[in-house]
Amino acid sequence: MKSLLKRKVFTALMMLCYGALSAQTISFKITKRYLNLPVSQTQERGIMQFKIDDKLERSFKIRLAAQPEYWVFCDMAALQGKTITISYDGKSEGLSKIYQDDKIAGQDSLYREKNRPQFHFSTRRGWINDPNGMIFYEGEYHLFYQHNPYEREWENMSWGHAVSKDMVHWEELPTALSPDAMGTMFSGSTVIDYQNTAGFNRGNIPAMIAFFTVDNPEKEVQCMAYSLDKGRTWTKYDKNPLIDSKAKWNSRDTRDPRVFWYKPGNHWVMVFNERDGHSIYTSKNLKEWKYESHVTGFWECPDLFELPIDGNKNKTKWVMYGASATYMIGDFDGKTFTPESGKHYYTTGSIYAAQTFTNMPQSDPRRVQIGWGRIAQPAMPFNHMMLLPTELRLRTTKNGLRLTSLPVKETEQLFTTVGQWTSLKAVDANEKLKTLPSLERFRIKTKIKLSHATSAGVSLWGQRLLDYDLNSNRVNGVFYSPEDMTSMEIMADIYVDKTSVEVFIDNGAYSYSFERKPSNSKDGLVFWGNNIEIKDLTLYTAKSIWE
Ligand code: FRU
Repeated sequence: MKSLLKRKVFTALMMLCYGALSAQTISFKITKRYLNLPVSQTQERGIMQFKIDDKLERSFKIRLAAQPEYWVFCDMAALQGKTITISYDGKSEGLSKIYQDDKIAGQDSLYREKNRPQFHFSTRRGWINDPNGMIFYEGEYHLFYQHNPYEREWENMSWGHAVSKDMVHWEELPTALSPDAMGTMFSGSTVIDYQNTAGFNRGNIPAMIAFFTVDNPEKEVQCMAYSLDKGRTWTKYDKNPLIDSKAKWNSRDTRDPRVFWYKPGNHWVMVFNERDGHSIYTSKNLKEWKYESHVTGFWECPDLFELPIDGNKNKTKWVMYGASATYMIGDFDGKTFTPESGKHYYTTGSIYAAQTFTNMPQSDPRRVQIGWGRIAQPAMPFNHMMLLPTELRLRTTKNGLRLTSLPVKETEQLFTTVGQWTSLKAVDANEKLKTLPSLERFRIKTKIKLSHATSAGVSLWGQRLLDYDLNSNRVNGVFYSPEDMTSMEIMADIYVDKTSVEVFIDNGAYSYSFERKPSNSKDGLVFWGNNIEIKDLTLYTAKSIWE
């Protein structure tokens, strides 16, 4: 048992009314910032509860283990000096291993773990999925996310929280929204209520208001909470839920509210998924919502935003977006979205449930997206990650308007040029690739001319980072036809991190992401393809965002 632990421990065996199962308890005074909890995937989940003065403080599922595979933690900042009673209804041998400390277990190697992404956001401990509540406010970018703080797999859905000044370097803050008696905290969005339409503002501090789905075995309902301290602490609205549409749709799939202010109509808009598509509701006060319309053919995690066409602010279109990164382009009058084209795709692979920042500075009204990267981090005390922040634009192409996506300019600070060359034969280019000091993480930007080949690309340890097949018109297996349809060339900007690969083709016309495989071949980084020409090649080392 840790010597740091100054606590009064007593164990009480409580027979639960429904049989031989027992919940054991320990009790002690909280004197340190973190409670470190030992877990192992080999254990069954049990329910752990924290009680303070006999009041339930939190309840979650955890695979408590006497022989931990890794450690997770609870931030106890808000509970200092209180006496806590912890009960656990599973195998309780791990209870005696729980200890408090001012560091999380493993703090000394935090962000330097073997499979830790070095230039992508990942959580200190636990599981993450969808980005939530992405907003810029008072100089900070807020990234909330679906989080299980207590295990490297999905469960206990909470809103984790991180902030950044540049969308590249992130600081993780305590959990923003935790499950409660109504259910777990599913995906959603945030707004700043500058005009105090909901009445939560204090003096001249406008409320940051979060909209989220509460999920329980019976149904999914839309709820809100507000914060007056830049998202650090939250108060859930006492009249939740705002919308319960299960009966109307005869479906429990009603979730993921995306709320924004529609200036021309002087009202709020909420778009969320109801059964077979995205529904639009409106409100004047964020509390009462009126159903307006529905676009069938989407599933989960809507986004809806206006973009200038080719950068011209006076000519715009709206983009209706679904979790799998497919979209329609059309018009929106504040109540109804009228599709004109789609669905299209601009990115495929690991991305899912992407969202864009709102409330961007007026001087720089970019539409910046972050997607959940479904990338496993093998054997780590954390799992999955966020993909690079990218700027979305609407570009006129020969086939009509299309979204493009490229990493935001702030990511440039991460990369240092190793060398730059033009017009190389593959054998010579392969020599240049050897000048990269490390293949742990790097970036390579290239333009390949196929010449005699029908397919060509770049591979790393036998894994194809780029596989362009002109004959079948596929890039890494997905149909792609370059804007110049007679072109024999392809441009790729390839970002390789510890566990992930993200590739942007032809200035963001198409992009994809996937898991990086461990080394399984003697070949390092090489170009492949018959008699190809490497027209451009730039190599970069990549910094760590955690240093
Ligand atoms: C998408 C999703 C959302 C839901 C959340 C739960 O990945 O299924 O629809 O709100 O994840 O974690």
